Formats: sequence, C-alpha cells, structure tokens
Amino acid sequence: MFKREVYINRRAKLKKLVKDGIILILGNNESPMNYPANGYHFRQDSDFLYFFGHDHAGMAGVIDVDSGDEFLFADDVSMDDIIWMGPQPSVKSLASEVGIEKTAPFGDLANLLVKATDSGRNVHILPQYRHDNMIYLNQVLGIPFDKMKDAVSVELIKAIVALRSIKDEYEIAEIDKACDIGYIMHTEAMKKAAPGVIEREVAGLMEGISLSRGGVPSFPIILSVNGQTLHNHYHGNVMKEGDLMLADAGCETTLHYASDNTRTSPVSGKFTAKQREVYEIVMNANNHAMSLIKPGITYREVHLAVAKVLASGLTELGIMKGNPDDAVREGAHALFQPHGLGHMMGLDVHDMEGLGENYVGYDDKIKRASQFGLSGLRLGRELKPGFVLTNEPGCYFIPELIDSWKSDKKFMDFINYEKLESYRDFGGIRLEDDILVTPDGNRLLGSKRIPITPEEVEDCMRS
Ligand code: GLY
Repeated sequence: MFKREVYINRRAKLKKLVKDGIILILGNNESPMNYPANGYHFRQDSDFLYFFGHDHAGMAGVIDVDSGDEFLFADDVSMDDIIWMGPQPSVKSLASEVGIEKTAPFGDLANLLVKATDSGRNVHILPQYRHDNMIYLNQVLGIPFDKMKDAVSVELIKAIVALRSIKDEYEIAEIDKACDIGYIMHTEAMKKAAPGVIEREVAGLMEGISLSRGGVPSFPIILSVNGQTLHNHYHGNVMKEGDLMLADAGCETTLHYASDNTRTSPVSGKFTAKQREVYEIVMNANNHAMSLIKPGITYREVHLAVAKVLASGLTELGIMKGNPDDAVREGAHALFQPHGLGHMMGLDVHDMEGLGENYVGYDDKIKRASQFGLSGLRLGRELKPGFVLTNEPGCYFIPELIDSWKSDKKFMDFINYEKLESYRDFGGIRLEDDILVTPDGNRLLGSKRIPITPEEVEDCMRS
C-alpha cells in the first residue's frame, strides 16, 4: 500500500469535489468459480483501492461529506477464518493504516444508509458491475435492478474521474514497474515463438511471468496467429512458418496498477517483405502518435493524425487509393483499423471504464463520434499532464469485414478491393506502448521500450 497520507489526501480532495451527502464505495467480495469455497482470484474494486487502499474482500468505505466523517465497514475474522486463513489484522488496525478512525461491522452499514435516505440525505453510489453488490443495494436502498444505472451519482463519477485521471508520482512509479514486467513478458514471448509451438505455450509463459513478479495479467491475454480478430483469446493454434503472432498483454503490480502492451512478431523469426511493409506503416503510426502526444492536444486529433499515416502507407502499397486526408475524413481507413488509438490506463487497464467510458474519455467540449472506427475511440478529450494512456495503432485484414464492405460497394473511391484480395490471409498487426503525458510532452512508461523495429524484434527472437 501507499503511505496513509496518500489515502487521506485523496479522500480530502474527493470531499471538496462533492457538494453534500454520503459517498458509498463498496469493495468487492469473493466470487465463487464452481462451488462456494473455490473462488476466482480476488480482485478488489479499483475505486475502493484508490480511496481506502485495502485489498480484502467484504469491505465498504463511507465518506460523510457534511460531517467529514469517514468509516470503514468490515468484519473482524472469526476463529474459523483464522484456522483456514491464518491470523489477520483487526479492522481497526487496517483502518488506521489508511487514516480512518471509525470502523464498524459490515452489517451496520445498512443502518447508516437507511437512516441517511430516511432523513432525505443524498447517498452517492457508483455504477455497479458485480451482481452481489447490486443485490445489496437493491435490498438496502430498494433500488430496482432495472433502475440501478439511473441511480448512480454523476457528481461522484465526475469527481472520481477528475482525481484518478491525473496520476501522482507514486502511481507513475507503480505503472513503470508494471511496464518493466510487461517488457519481460513480451521479450520472453518473442523468444518462445517458433513454428510448431502452440499459442497457449507462449500465453502461459507470459501469464506465469506476470504472476511470479506481481499479480495477474491486467486482462485475459490476447495472443494469436489470427491477430485480425482484435480480442482473440483462443490459444489453441499451432504456430507455423509465415504466421504473425500478435501478443497483447500486460500485468498488474502488487498494488494493482496495470501495463498493457502489444507486439507482433514473425513466427519464423524473420518478417517477409510483405509483412514488413505493413509492419512499418503501423510502427510509423505508433511513432507519429508519440511525437504528437502533449498537453493541450486532444486524443481525437492524435487518433486522426495516426489514421492519416495508416491511410497514406496503405495508399503507397496500392491497397487504398485517392487522397488519404479525404479517406480518413470519410472513415474509409477504419476497414483496416476499426478501433481507437488508445485508452486511459491506471488501476484498471481500461482505467475507470466501470464509471462510464464517456465520462473518462470525453467531456463537455468533445463528444464521442458515431462514425464507424472513430466511435471505438475510448479517449478523445484534451490531454493533461499526468494522464497515462495507451498508444496502439493497428492494421488488420478481416476477411468478413472486407467481404461485407465490398458487397456493399463501400468506399469504392478509397479502397482497392482487387489488390486487397492478396492480403485476405495476412492477419493483423498492432503495436502498443504505454505513455505518460508530461508538462512538456510525453514519456514512454517502463525503463526500456519493448523491441519494436523489425530488426529489434528479429534480434530478440534470435537471442
Ligand atoms: N489491450 C487490450 C485492450 O485494450 O482491451
């Protein structure tokens, strides 16, 4: 955990941003996998971690904005718990580690909430993603399940997004650590890839590195020779000569800060000329984004500038045609990159996405677009120092999408469908780095950039 002042200060700032009422932040509970005592890996709620620090199941934090009181609700362990789990610190001592004096058994939380609502006070709740917490709120506050989404406090969401968007020095140090573990995961994956290896052998190696150095991967590992499927979690293919292996993976540190990187490597150890041509377009797109990221620019502007690099490169290869600027304005390039350039990253790999993507990535000045491709951009707003984000351009040849667009005669002025036929089985390339926005520009997170030039990748695979 961070030192107690960090949590005290975060809650103090939150109290200033929320006008009145009671803020409720529910932690997570154990979640059974196939029978009650066999649980999934426990993951604490990220807002609870941010304000209350503790990584234990069955807790809730309350901040009374009007009185200034702060409470930690949780049960002390029983003798039975001690027998199975070993001795555990008391709730009082856990609370004191994060600067909280008032504690009570979890069961008392309901009384506090009911009393508050009965006396007409505002109880601020967040969007819920765990069903047990939804059931709790339904039982205690009487919120119907189909109204749970409307019962959330937009004031609280906006306040939390404002705070969590700007990473402090402690958080940045954690994310650097996560990226350093990500470096090992990706370079070991490159070394392991070879014809005859099954994808799960590489994915399992990456997962093991993550587990042994911190925590679980920050999201289920995406690793496939079919990289044209953006989130491909099937790891059963035997890799063969001529395949490209797309590996999109990151880890969590012990404090749950994430990394998220993607590299694409030739299974044979050497890119073919055709693979290299497309690879270099994506690499140029990634580098161009990095040259632009700085405070004041919107990430939508960066996304669109990167799209132009992609469209220009594909025009040079003869896959696209016409004016790349016009193609991007119309959205024709989205056939090849149907997703956005990146997202915020922090305690969640898609940071704060549980609070609502548009609250995190957009604001009053810039609204999400509806155009195919651009609508997938999770972060569009103006960048500020302290933001941590991913830069992940890609180029994919998705046969089903190509066929659909071709039969609909979409963008005939910008796409050379005849030439495209010879790329149907190409797969996909994505190159993703994690970036901190600094006062005068940006810096790559982690102490070393994961090999990215074709030469660096091939050297790493040989080593
Ligand atoms: N890197 C996986 C994702 O952004 O969803």
